[in-house]
Amino acid sequence: MLFKSLLLATGQVSLAIAKVQYMGMNIAGGDFGCAIDGTCTTSSTQLPLSTLGGGDGAGQMQHFVTDDQMNIFRLPVSWQFLTNNVLGATLDSTNLGKYDQVMQACLNTGAYCAIDIHNFARWNGEIIGQSSTVTDDMFVSLWTQLATKYASQSKVLFGIMNEPHDLDIATWAATCQKVVTAIRNAGASTQMILLPGNNFASAGTFVSNGSGAALIAITNPDGSTTNLILDIHKYLDVDNSGTHAECTTDNIADAFALVADFLRTNSRQALVSETGAGSSASCFTDFCAQNAYLNSNSDVFLGYIAWAAGSFATSYVLSLTPTQTNGQYVDNALASQCVIAPWLNSTSTASSAAGAVATVSPTTTRTSIMTRTTTASVFTGTSTVQIGITTSNRTATIGFAAATGGALASTTNGTVKASATATSTSSFTGEAHR
Ligand SMILES: *[C@@H]1O[C@H](CO)[C@@H](O)[C@H](O)[C@H]1NC(C)=O
Ligand SMILES: *[C@@H]1O[C@H](CO)[C@@H](O)[C@H](O)[C@H]1NC(C)=O
Ligand SMILES: *[C@@H]1O[C@H](CO)[C@@H](O)[C@H](O)[C@H]1NC(C)=O
Ligand SMILES: *[C@@H]1O[C@H](CO)[C@@H](O)[C@H](O)[C@H]1NC(C)=O
Repeated sequence: MLFKSLLLATGQVSLAIAKVQYMGMNIAGGDFGCAIDGTCTTSSTQLPLSTLGGGDGAGQMQHFVTDDQMNIFRLPVSWQFLTNNVLGATLDSTNLGKYDQVMQACLNTGAYCAIDIHNFARWNGEIIGQSSTVTDDMFVSLWTQLATKYASQSKVLFGIMNEPHDLDIATWAATCQKVVTAIRNAGASTQMILLPGNNFASAGTFVSNGSGAALIAITNPDGSTTNLILDIHKYLDVDNSGTHAECTTDNIADAFALVADFLRTNSRQALVSETGAGSSASCFTDFCAQNAYLNSNSDVFLGYIAWAAGSFATSYVLSLTPTQTNGQYVDNALASQCVIAPWLNSTSTASSAAGAVATVSPTTTRTSIMTRTTTASVFTGTSTVQIGITTSNRTATIGFAAATGGALASTTNGTVKASATATSTSSFTGEAHR
């Protein structure tokens, strides 16, 4: 899907579509053996390919794409595995080759595929760039090599680091800046780069503890912030650790709503690259509510990637690994009801066509015309469209009560052509974000 924004004389106008652009799954295993001090025991690595002794990540991803319309996967791996335990070294061709098999299995599905270096901003207890032994240069070398390898793959995302924590955020942002510059200069000039903050990339403290402010200052070599995406994680259990079967929060009021405000104010977007829950009743309520919220705030949240499948057993407390029955993969109830359904069900009329074109002005009552040809498959009922307008100094929301004329124009082999004409009265929330 495309996310189209128009630049008007008065400021940037972006369309909030009815669901996030990217929905998918972490295909774990390359991270197995990693602890939060950045120690990764490579003998515990279980890359998620059955041919490499791990879970059937290739089959799972194909299933997720074909049956569930997922379009993004995150592929964790440790820094130690890629260099075969030699700090700062040239990547080990054997191990890189194995990781690349996972990457190719992902790319073969047509989905977006995120590299995730699962080291908690550390190598064996030492913080990158904040210790004498593990330097920024070593980390930049890792990313230069990876970016060079995948420079021509437009669907590869560069997830700089999994869950930094207990570090100085300003120094960490400086490290990330060097990595961004290196990735771009290695020829990966347009792909999305994911920028993670402190406290395990927590949505809950992203704004309050300064991660957002530090990370949005990072720029591409041309000075822009194009495709520099804030990387956010959040779990729903009592301590945000993702280790408990019970959920105690839906993360909306105390986490994602605060992040959404910050992103709107600063005209930026985030990807939730990890979120997951147990399969207890409380989680069916909270996880479904959270993901519905993310979908309905898709102007600032690009997507979410659930944790986790891949080499995880179906008995793992947060497992979303599908089971095989008669050669067919079947999703577990939590995956299907709270990860996939909130996204699939959000598909509606032309309003959810991400490329819808709206011509609006932030100062007057206008009629907006949206036309879009889309392959979305569910076209029923009325839809509610919201267009968020962000100018340099104010934020406004135009509420489109039910787009009229959003009915089917024609249907041919699953390709639905729809057009919607919506009339709205702009109702400014004033300078709420300023
Ligand atoms: C908050 O930021 C400070 C300074 O960067 C850091 O030392 C501390 O670990 C952070 N706390 C959390 C919970 O992220
Ligand atoms: C999604 O839609 C299906 C089919 O209409 C329905 O059974 C299910 O309850 C919906 N789920 C959610 C979370 O809205
Ligand atoms: C908002 O920004 C515009 C253009 O930058 C400027 O002309 C206008 O005076 C600003 N309004 C306020 C209230 O700051
Ligand atoms: C529908 O798809 C089938 C198979 O691809 C094709 O043979 C047929 O011509 C298509 N029909 C229309 C109306 O496009």
